[in-house]
Amino acid sequence: MRKIVVAIDGPAGAGKSTIAKLVAGEIGYAYIDTGAMYRSVTWKWLQTGKEFSEEFISELANTMVIEFRPEANVNRVFVDGQEVTSAIRSAEVTANVSRVAAIGPVREAMVAQQRRMGDVGGVLMDGRDIGTVVFPNAELKVFLTATVEERAMRRYKELVAKGEKVELEQLKEDIALRDKQDSERAISPLRQAEDALYLDTSDMSIEQVVAKLKELVQERE
Ligand code: DC
Repeated sequence: MRKIVVAIDGPAGAGKSTIAKLVAGEIGYAYIDTGAMYRSVTWKWLQTGKEFSEEFISELANTMVIEFRPEANVNRVFVDGQEVTSAIRSAEVTANVSRVAAIGPVREAMVAQQRRMGDVGGVLMDGRDIGTVVFPNAELKVFLTATVEERAMRRYKELVAKGEKVELEQLKEDIALRDKQDSERAISPLRQAEDALYLDTSDMSIEQVVAKLKELVQERE
């Protein structure tokens, strides 16, 4: 049995990270959350308090050290030794990350690291351009999606469960805006690779999606 590279792409809120984390745990693969890397660069830039500048942010992306330390139920993230696991999920980072992820040299720096992490095989990597740019030869590519309504509803339930006060309509708008920014940007826009399997999870439970993915990985190994 050979451990493969699994590329999982799709829009914000499709459940990529939840699914990838569970599948990875069950089959003994590493899980790499590439969105967390773009979020880390965004966090680092916001920390400096400086104006948006492609040059400055690219410089940061090329010098900062991003590390993943996976634990049983959380994938901890560190930037230059400081834990940012929760900080990179803040509303401020979320609102700014699309701009940062559209900077060419930032993407080049992240893609180079992602290739180093995935080259060994035995990884599930999720993002927007994994099957199209990072690992165009991945043995398995999945494009995971769900309707905007369903994605907004999942996010709504998640936030309400955490005790946060949110508006469903607002979440829907935020998700639609991120879809637009991610799929219309000039460099590495979100798009399904030709050889990716399209999986709409709107009417599927997490367990069903996990089982489907495990089956696909096992077929390819
Ligand atoms: O998956 P996420 O919401 O954590 O991703 C955060 C942002 O990073 C999202 O707006 C798109 C961008 N991203 C990207 O451009 N390429 C990736 N491989 C992963 C994320």
